[in-house]
Amino acid sequence: MKKYLVVGNPIKHSQSPLLHNFWLKKNNINAIYDKEEYQSSDLESLIFKVREDKINGINVTVPFKEKIIPFLDKLSPEAEITQSVNTIHLHKKSVVGYNTDIYGFETAIKDIKFNIENKKILILGAGGVVPSIIFSLNKMKALKIMISNRTKNKAERLKELSNNISVVDWGEIPDFDMIINATSIGLNKEDKIIIDFSKIEKDKLFFDIIYNPRETNFLTAAKKNGNITENGKKMFIYQALASFKIWHGIQPEINDDTIKLLDQ
Ligand code: ATR
Repeated sequence: MKKYLVVGNPIKHSQSPLLHNFWLKKNNINAIYDKEEYQSSDLESLIFKVREDKINGINVTVPFKEKIIPFLDKLSPEAEITQSVNTIHLHKKSVVGYNTDIYGFETAIKDIKFNIENKKILILGAGGVVPSIIFSLNKMKALKIMISNRTKNKAERLKELSNNISVVDWGEIPDFDMIINATSIGLNKEDKIIIDFSKIEKDKLFFDIIYNPRETNFLTAAKKNGNITENGKKMFIYQALASFKIWHGIQPEINDDTIKLLDQ
């Protein structure tokens, strides 16, 4: 039986096994998908298991998307540009790192029919997934990308990714069309991001990368203010779909059952 794995730290909240095992069964593939909490020091031996065909595919999540790269043989162009890997696969004896977060974000935005072209986007956070979001936003022709992060120099470093990026102080909310929470604030239900809604118009899109819990305080407050809101569920499903396709050569179907599955 083939074995697939998602690794991260923490990993308890991950719904990847739920989704992948559902699709494996639907497609009659004899394989299992597990989750395991990892430490940085164990990443090298993990990749060795891929090389030996003991593990057939890996999803990588926070905080290892960049840390895993030195142990891989090759990167896809998207993984190379963003220096972020969320999918690993043995291909012709090489361990290859892919980035399907870019596809996940872009497809989720297209699904909700929000047009990014010429829009001003404010990103909160500067962690592992942000380079992928920036890459997607630029693919969709965003006008301006503003980054706000508690640790300012991490935001400053992202400026080299494109020349439409500026950095704003943490706590400052400039004018925007879309705001993205890419911090881990909200993973705990009681977490709050301080945003003064008195100056925010109603038609703005609030997007949270977090999908579990389904509605963070960030989205609840935005909804109350009359804004459009979207959680990270579609992005999550689409990145998983792209990983599934890399490993199994099959594009799984996304329907109401898929969406409901993750509401448990
Ligand atoms: P990593 O930074 O290791 O890539 P991540 O989970 O991808 O990890 O990113 C976490 C993001 O949430 C970071 O932008 C982090 O800000 P710092 O760079 O200052 O650490 C942000 N974050 C987490 N907890 C936060 C908090 N309580 N207040 C503000 N930002 C927070």
